Amino acid sequence: MSFKIVQQVAPRLNRSELAVPGSSPQMFEKAARSAADVVFLDLEDAVALDRKDEARRNVIQAIGDVDWGAKTLSVRINGLDTPYMYRDVVDLLEQCSDRLDLIMIPKVGTGADVYALDMLVTQIETAKGRKRRIGFEHIIETALGMQNMEEIAAASPRNESLHFGVADYAASIKARTTMIGGPNPDYGVLTGGPDDAERAFHWGDMWHYAIARMVVVARANGLRPIDGPFGDFSDEPGFKAHANRAAVLGCEGKWAIHPKQIALANEVMGPNAREIDKARRILDAMEQAKREGKGAVALDGKLIDLASIRQAEALIAKAQMLEKAG
Ligand code: GLV
Ligand code: MG
Repeated sequence: MSFKIVQQVAPRLNRSELAVPGSSPQMFEKAARSAADVVFLDLEDAVALDRKDEARRNVIQAIGDVDWGAKTLSVRINGLDTPYMYRDVVDLLEQCSDRLDLIMIPKVGTGADVYALDMLVTQIETAKGRKRRIGFEHIIETALGMQNMEEIAAASPRNESLHFGVADYAASIKARTTMIGGPNPDYGVLTGGPDDAERAFHWGDMWHYAIARMVVVARANGLRPIDGPFGDFSDEPGFKAHANRAAVLGCEGKWAIHPKQIALANEVMGPNAREIDKARRILDAMEQAKREGKGAVALDGKLIDLASIRQAEALIAKAQMLEKAG
């Protein structure tokens, strides 16, 4: 281990994160009763420009009036380059109840963006005597944000998570996409060479670099990496495959842009009963080895090392959080 200890953000369940437009208050109660771990009420891209004020008022009222249960509650504010963002932050934090947990910052580009927002939030929190400290979720969805992710991740003790906003990211880097967060049939390789009679075409994941980089930067700063939207909400196997590949790379959760996607994200991000059982067996085997004075341990014919034990411990901690949340 390095001498530098990475401080881990306080753990929260973040398997599914449901997006709800702030201009659709009729959806709030349903979102509050859903199985999503986190709900974010959107003031940004899901809200038309002429409804920004109305959406802000809806959201401020609903934070206090709706029973959000044990959910983590977030609000996505408008970008720092818009004329809406300052009022989002000031009105929200001056007027909404202490129930709000997080603010989600879209299109964050530099560490200075985060610093500026931290200053504003800190002033309002102090002036108003707000009791619950607001955390930050950052959407990495521009070329600038991808370039400066390291300084963004380290810019504030309020930081909790990094999210990959694939739709805006694609627009920002001018990638050729066919569907939000999905694959592009043109992104692939041919097996073999020109002399081979049969050559297969293998589709690739054009978002691999972005997600893998986000996971590394998030983990190096003790934050949660979360994968963003998958636009085709009628394609359940497609959603599951994309959530799975994000989970395999280390993401802790995925957005749900439709209530249908909540259960799928929860299931994929797990942990499931099989994984919990395996983790328990790893920890038991390790305990037994300790009692018998053995260093290396085998389980089901495979070596278990310290890394497997750390993973098993993290998985059991998450399972305990899930049990507590009911
Ligand atoms: C999310 O905001 C995205 O742009 O994908
Ligand atoms: Mg976006």
